[in-house]
Amino acid sequence: MTIRLADDAGIAAAADHLRGGEVVAFPTETVYGLGADATDDDAVSKVFAIKGRPALNPLIVHVAGPDWLEQLVEPDSRVDILTDAFWPGPLTLVLPRLPGCPVSKSVSANLGTIAVRQPDHTVATALLAAVNRPLAAPSANPSGHVSPTTAQHVEADLGDALDFILDGGPCRSGLESTVLDLTTDTARILRPGVIGSDELAAMIGDVENQTVSTGLVKAPGQLAKHYAPNLPVRLNADTAVKGEAFIVLGGGPNADFDLSPSGDLAEAAATLFAALRKMDDPSRFSGLAIAPIPDQGIGLAINDRLRRAARGR
Ligand code: TXA
Ligand code: MG
Repeated sequence: MTIRLADDAGIAAAADHLRGGEVVAFPTETVYGLGADATDDDAVSKVFAIKGRPALNPLIVHVAGPDWLEQLVEPDSRVDILTDAFWPGPLTLVLPRLPGCPVSKSVSANLGTIAVRQPDHTVATALLAAVNRPLAAPSANPSGHVSPTTAQHVEADLGDALDFILDGGPCRSGLESTVLDLTTDTARILRPGVIGSDELAAMIGDVENQTVSTGLVKAPGQLAKHYAPNLPVRLNADTAVKGEAFIVLGGGPNADFDLSPSGDLAEAAATLFAALRKMDDPSRFSGLAIAPIPDQGIGLAINDRLRRAARGR
């Protein structure tokens, strides 16, 4: 396993690796992705194997810009509006795949749709330009675990199984992208993120929220046991009890970790996964107690991830 600094030489080496059908972990503005050439069946199968990802759970395809959509997905007037407003950025669009689309069918679990986004990170942008192919990339964690927001998180989780991690420092946004289903007349959020339903509705009209797990899972990231630390997680805690770590927002007594001393939700989102990982230490704590997070704006997406973490494995 090699961690390489994401300078020009590191990016060029990572691009060679990807073009050779190998897997590279790379930074985006949300979390680190486990990338492979999306048009290469064998490369994509390595991603599923390294993550222990069920073949039924589709991957997001990363592109260098909206122009690339023409080769991949059916046109849709909402796409132009949304990509103008939010790309590059943490918004993933699920669209019907075009006949002749070069992306491996295993990327989207033979669903007939593709989830696609343009990441807003200079390293991801440079890598996509150098590879000049769409990159399939789920979050670079073992299936079911907390997503990585640093190269060191990736190393700790997947270092044994992975031979190339491109280190671009900590991810600035910290929560995975909003996943928006555009395969129906009314757009539907399959996974909440920093870009919320109000912002989306202002652009394209009605947007449904589908954040509650049902038996019929359209985005398996909705499954209850995603994003789980090893220790039990208790939400809306006023204080910690019995050896728990106390994770708070905006100060307070007896805090072990403050997600944002000023109570800023964007900062809390950026530090959430690092906090969960740091406090998830059975040699120090017996569980994680998390203070209430306001259920508005970015807090909706933070609480979505926390509920999944609390449901455990
Ligand atoms: O911010 C992000 O989205 C990060 C970075 C690396 O881009 N990626 C990420 O990927 O979080 P992953 O694989 O951990 O989550 C992808 C989510 C899953 O919930 C998956 O089920 C859903 O997107 N998804 C992917 N393709 C889909 C499709 N064709 N239809 C519906 N949902 C899809
Ligand atoms: Mg993930």
